Formats: sequence, C-alpha cells, structure tokens
Amino acid sequence: MPEGYVVRALREADAPALASAYARNRTHLEPWDPRRDESFYTEQGQRVAVHQQLSAVRMGLMVAWLVVKDGELVGRVNLNNIVRGALHSAAVGYWVDAAHLGRGLATAAVEHAVEEARSMGLHRVEAGTLLHNAASQAVLRKCGFTEYGLAPRYLFIAGLWQDHRLFQRILHDEPPA
Ligand SMILES: CC(C)(COP(=O)(O)OP(=O)(O)OC[C@H]1O[C@@H](n2cnc3c(N)ncnc32)[C@H](O)[C@@H]1OP(=O)(O)O)[C@@H](O)C(=O)NCCC(=O)NCCS
Repeated sequence: MPEGYVVRALREADAPALASAYARNRTHLEPWDPRRDESFYTEQGQRVAVHQQLSAVRMGLMVAWLVVKDGELVGRVNLNNIVRGALHSAAVGYWVDAAHLGRGLATAAVEHAVEEARSMGLHRVEAGTLLHNAASQAVLRKCGFTEYGLAPRYLFIAGLWQDHRLFQRILHDEPPA
C-alpha cells in the first residue's frame, strides 16, 4: 500500500466507521452503487450489514477488507461471490474515499485482493464496471485485468438496469483444488 495506508480484515466493530464513511462519501459513491435506503448510512444499518458480511466470510462466500490511514477508514475492497467447483472464481468490488483519490489506493487494494484470491487457489477474479466508469476501468487494467465482454442490463445500479463492461484476470491454469 502507499505509505501510511494499510489493508486489514473487516471486523464487527467497524460499523460506526463504515456508517460515517458512507455518509461522507454518499454523493461520490451513489452513481456507482445499488440504491441504498436511509438505514444504510446509520450505525445500526451498518451493524446489520457487517454482521451479514462476516457470516458470509465464515461460510467462504466472500472476503472483506478495509483500507485505513491513521485509524480512519478510507476505502474498501471485497472478494464477493466466491464460487468453487468448475468456476473457482470471485468478483472484486472496491471504493476509495473522495478525499484520498489518485494516490494508487484502489490499484494497491485490488492487487491485494487478487493475491489473496491466488493464495485461496481461485482460478480467476472478475469485475464489472459501468460503461463510463473510466477510473475503475483504469484500475482494473493497471492490475492486469482484460476486458472480455459487455453485459447488457447487467446490474441494478443507481436505480436502473445498466450495461456493464466485464473484466477478468486469470490467475493460473492448474486444476481446481
Ligand atoms: C474507481 C476508484 C476506486 C479509483 O480509486 P483511486 O484510488 O483514485 O485509483 P488509483 O489511484 O489506484 O488510480 C488508478 C488509475 O486510474 C486512473 N484514473 C483515476 N481516475 C480516473 C478517471 N476519472 N479517468 C481515467 N483514469 C482515471 C489514475 O490516473 C490511475 O492511473 P495512473 O496511475 O496510470 O495515473 C475511485 O474513483 C472510486 O471509489 N470510485 C467510486 C466507486 C467505484 O467506481 N468503484 C468501482 C466500481 S466497479
């Protein structure tokens, strides 16, 4: 990570910091995220969300990290939708606080997630971006992802079913463990 920043695993106690980070970054994240209800921006809403996410982590369905600087939460990266079997894949999701953009944080966080995916034996990491999300596409290309297609009306983002560019990075060609 860039100097002063660390990536660490999500914990139950992070709910208040997440509520505050999501409230602070509401206009920054809204165009790229699913619609959130008001409870999402509260400590109680984040307590429920974090609890569900850590249950999914225990079940091997996701891995969740925070990017932190001097104890302040300034970003997130997740491996979501972990599937084993013939697919052996996960989807990477990420955001960086509006006050910390352009310092290589997303690139470093995505690289971290990719290395974890590799150590978990996954074959592939994927990501989908809105067509006009040039910043996210730049992050993925810097991290060695290649664009492999376009999915029409793929995700319900900011209140609409929106087309997405699909990216993937293949990690190895060994058989599934
Ligand atoms: C996308 C996002 C995570 C990038 O975070 P970041 O920490 O600023 O990214 P980095 O500093 O690692 O930048 C990586 C590259 O993207 C480029 N980049 C950043 N913003 C850009 C933009 N608006 N247009 C084109 N390229 C851009 C940078 O120049 C950099 O390339 P370089 O090192 O060759 O100059 C951040 O803008 C964000 O949180 N956006 C909202 C949430 C989001 O879109 N998440 C992803 C959903 S798919």
